[in-house]
Amino acid sequence: MSNGQAFPDLEGSEVTQGTVPQQPANPLRDPADRRLPRIAGPSGLVIFGVTGDLSRKKLMPAIYDLANRGLLPPGFSLVGFARREWEDEDFAKEVHDAVKEHARTPFREEVWQQLAKGMRFVQGTFDDDAAFDTLRQTIEDLDKAQGTSGNFAFYLSVPPKFFPNVVQQLKKHGLADPPKGSWRRAVIEKPFGHNLESAQELNKVVHEVFPRDEVFRIDHYLGKETVQNILALRFANSMFEPIWNRSYVDHVQITMAEDIGIGGRAGYYDGIGSARDVIQNHLLQLMALTAIEEPASFHPKALVAEKLKVLSAVQLPKDLGLHTVRGQYASGWQGGEEVLGYLDEDGIDPNSKTDTFAAIKLEINNRRWAGVPFYLRTGKRLGRRVTEIAVVFQRAPYLPFDSYATEELGQNALVIRVQPDEGVTVRFGSKVPGTSMEVRDVTMDFAYGESFTESSPEAYERLILDVLLGDANLFPRHQEVELSWEILDPIEKYWDQHGKPAQYPAGTWGPAEADEMLARDGRSWRRP
Ligand code: BG6
Repeated sequence: MSNGQAFPDLEGSEVTQGTVPQQPANPLRDPADRRLPRIAGPSGLVIFGVTGDLSRKKLMPAIYDLANRGLLPPGFSLVGFARREWEDEDFAKEVHDAVKEHARTPFREEVWQQLAKGMRFVQGTFDDDAAFDTLRQTIEDLDKAQGTSGNFAFYLSVPPKFFPNVVQQLKKHGLADPPKGSWRRAVIEKPFGHNLESAQELNKVVHEVFPRDEVFRIDHYLGKETVQNILALRFANSMFEPIWNRSYVDHVQITMAEDIGIGGRAGYYDGIGSARDVIQNHLLQLMALTAIEEPASFHPKALVAEKLKVLSAVQLPKDLGLHTVRGQYASGWQGGEEVLGYLDEDGIDPNSKTDTFAAIKLEINNRRWAGVPFYLRTGKRLGRRVTEIAVVFQRAPYLPFDSYATEELGQNALVIRVQPDEGVTVRFGSKVPGTSMEVRDVTMDFAYGESFTESSPEAYERLILDVLLGDANLFPRHQEVELSWEILDPIEKYWDQHGKPAQYPAGTWGPAEADEMLARDGRSWRRP
């Protein structure tokens, strides 16, 4: 397919493949050479919710790491907006401490000094008109002092109930309208709604203010190297694709397990639960990337088109009672320590029915996947922290061995280890050395740490850089978000109407019901 091919724009307008995102003009750069570092042009970022955990642990360190890697423009500016009574210096100190504690790359005073020059703080609430006027003035001042050229992204790291307020204030105060030749973008953190209806409502509100191509919804899993590697593994190689279908694949298991509890996030988590927190976004995105057809190119519209086809082809099991499970952690032991059960955590309603574990079975109704179950599970306070995609293959149709020889032989599997120990494992059978024929499972392993000297950037580094470059490839579009809610809503509704989550002791692999769910299909969960 040649460059310049037009794609129907899924968000409304017509775009052209090969459109180069707005970049600083640099005569030494060949824009076609993607090996050159992608460096953001003159720009700044405004963070709403800057006093929150995400901002301190992820966003501020990511910005510093980008600056340290030379990927931000010299005049890059960072504006914090919050209620706190801070001056610019207090904000800069907060960023400084967050960077010292959480940044991935070493602290360099000269990088910090450069970055600190562009830091400002605006104090106010979301309905405070004067504060938004001050914000507009601050941006104009930064344009002059730092050369940000009017290019600003607004990062909404706030609960969804505040989204409408903030975007409407941005509109009312002229902040969403870019001066001629510049851009204004909205970056929106999850959760994007609570169900299909609320997500549609939020999309409507945001689209009334920002053009669709200037809205960046964050799913930080898409910023992970290993997740992007799903595309490389599948589409840069010839050996996997021929067997990546219902003729060879028995089923797919996608697991995102965490050993932590809900920590200090009771306010966010209770009433939301693990399926809304993780399956609606991260796990359905992993499933989509595992299942998609080869996109015509990696133009965002082409990739989204394929993901949408998969999400629209998802089929829920008829009996949700048999093929979905939710759980809630009870007290137990983790890392040698006794830990509280969910209902005893600070700030949790003692009668809460919120799920901290969820497992669901889905099928994808298309020619490639019909009849192949995709099992998705996630949970807090599980055995250990691990995210992986396991493509489990069918057994060989015939085994010309004595039966004892293959007694211990499992199914072939290709496992994409998203985190930790990032890499890919292939499991297959091999002869055990000795005089008799005995076949046992062995693994072949690719580990990022051994094959590459470069360490992986944090997901937020990649995503913030992409926002500044206007590259939307790693950001779910509104239709993806809505389709994902369409998949989850009936399950949540069923759970609401049927009893309570099953309890599981902290430090285990979830409730027994989850094992029974797979056993019913003659399968079992991997113990990663
Ligand atoms: C977030 C969820 O999206 O992802 C959290 O809201 C979860 O509940 C987190 O802990 C896990 O992210 P990661 O990158 O540590 O796997």
